[in-house]
Amino acid sequence: MRPKILIARAVFPDVIARLAERFDVESNQDDHIHSAAELAEKIRDKDAVYITGSERMSAELIAAAPRLKAICNMAVGYNNIDVDAATAAGVMVTNTPDVLNQTTADMAWALLMAAARRITESEHWLRAGHWKKWRYDGMLGADVHGATLGIIGMGRIGQAIARRSIGFDMQVLYHNRSRLTPEQEAHANDARYVSKEDLLRQADHVVLVLPYSPQSHHTIGAPELALMKPTATLVNIARGGIVDDVALIAALRAHRIGAAGLDVFENEPAFHPDFLGLSNVVLTPHIGSATEPTRRAMAECAAANLVAALSGEIPPNLLNPGVDRNLKRST
Ligand code: GLV
Repeated sequence: MRPKILIARAVFPDVIARLAERFDVESNQDDHIHSAAELAEKIRDKDAVYITGSERMSAELIAAAPRLKAICNMAVGYNNIDVDAATAAGVMVTNTPDVLNQTTADMAWALLMAAARRITESEHWLRAGHWKKWRYDGMLGADVHGATLGIIGMGRIGQAIARRSIGFDMQVLYHNRSRLTPEQEAHANDARYVSKEDLLRQADHVVLVLPYSPQSHHTIGAPELALMKPTATLVNIARGGIVDDVALIAALRAHRIGAAGLDVFENEPAFHPDFLGLSNVVLTPHIGSATEPTRRAMAECAAANLVAALSGEIPPNLLNPGVDRNLKRST
């Protein structure tokens, strides 16, 4: 009998076709958002599930799928998966690292530039017909060139963001769980390791690129925003929940910081409506990796992990190498 898999969301048709050569595939090209109960029902008899960062694989769901051998996430972040529960149940978990580093680094810069130079605010103003004359003090923003860039979370994407700052003659400060090697720091525009507090006090532009976990919940809240310069820009391309959105709204409204560029939100896609009333924030709908080549690379990476997992091989991007794969009978 061929293994059964669920592809929980719409994905490139050719990726589905390739998986269908090996597996009995249940797909969802209508892109219906399954409730947890629907997902539980669908994965009950499945050997693997291919999900995106939007599907939550809780311990309860994993327990509801006795045949499940692999959860393959089409995302680099995997805070949507209870990895400990998967490991305890003998289920492999994979993600799609590296293939999106450069595209996501580009996005951080797009948001930084747009927020600092008031690009979307200016465009809305122009479209609304307000542009009647040039003014010496019209839409003044913050300089990016020559400024100090602070990066919180200095993994591969953070380092790619830092390297792009060389062309802007910027100084780079970073904060991370662990310090980079001197070679990595040199390669990241001579990035200097500092405490989170020093970074927030000194940086003109702060970019958040750290993974979400209970430890990183509200890494930026009211006390941290209070440390930032009144002209500073805050960019979040990491995950909702790393920033306390209510505190950020209050800080933007009171101009305690200059501007923000946000690609991720608490409770997205149902983000806080008060953001919409603020002109000093650039809002995008979680599109950090959204280019055709990168989304394809992610889709293919997730598929390759799934094929390996169900072929008795170690998937290239296995997140829980300690998993006892013998807990599951082989396919
Ligand atoms: C996107 O947010 C990802 O984690 O890939």
